[in-house]
Amino acid sequence: MKSTNVVWQQTQVARAERERQNKHQSAILWFTGLSGAGKSTLAAAVEVRLHELGCRTFVIDGDNVRHGLCGDLGFSAADRTENIRRVGEVAKLFTEAGVIALTAFISPFRADRDRVRQLVADGDFFEIYCKADLAVCESRDVKGLYQKARAGQILEFTGISSPYEEPAKPELMVETGSSSLESCVDTVVNALIHHGIIQPETLTQP
Ligand code: ADX
Repeated sequence: MKSTNVVWQQTQVARAERERQNKHQSAILWFTGLSGAGKSTLAAAVEVRLHELGCRTFVIDGDNVRHGLCGDLGFSAADRTENIRRVGEVAKLFTEAGVIALTAFISPFRADRDRVRQLVADGDFFEIYCKADLAVCESRDVKGLYQKARAGQILEFTGISSPYEEPAKPELMVETGSSSLESCVDTVVNALIHHGIIQPETLTQP
């Protein structure tokens, strides 16, 4: 920590008051998986569903964040760790704001994801493993990056020349490589209901 002589300021509106107003709990829905596994697509679709239900939501997406907040970072292990640290801090702010934050980052290292888990209160970090075989992601190759990585034009590419550490005990695993988008959205939303993060009947009350 380089910052010294800084004093924490309390806000006047507590998180619990924001949650009461929003009629749902805050949480971080942490989507992790290989590039091309469908994290961004699923996070975006879950957000639409939650928004329609009346939830306050926001998607924080890896490719987007790397255009701004994390534009100074590359893909070395150290830079990925810093990327996830910053995103974890931002996502934590969203929980304090009463929002359901949906993050879509490869976040390949277990220790980095666990650090975010430790950063927030118990139950706030909801890890969703978007499971898709490398072969499936590579055959999709939506951005043409796997082809470049195989040709040696992109170094340290996750799954090819940089590791992906599968979550040991995610709150949820969705088979994004083989299931339809709609069924994956259903799976996520049902899990949020099951864990008490959202209660559709409460949300629809005036
Ligand atoms: S993370 O590893 O630090 O979590 P992040 O999710 O922010 O990665 O960014 C991943 C996106 O960056 C990929 O979807 C892909 O579009 C792009 N990308 C560019 N270079 C690489 C690389 N070497 N490894 C993985 N993704 C890369």
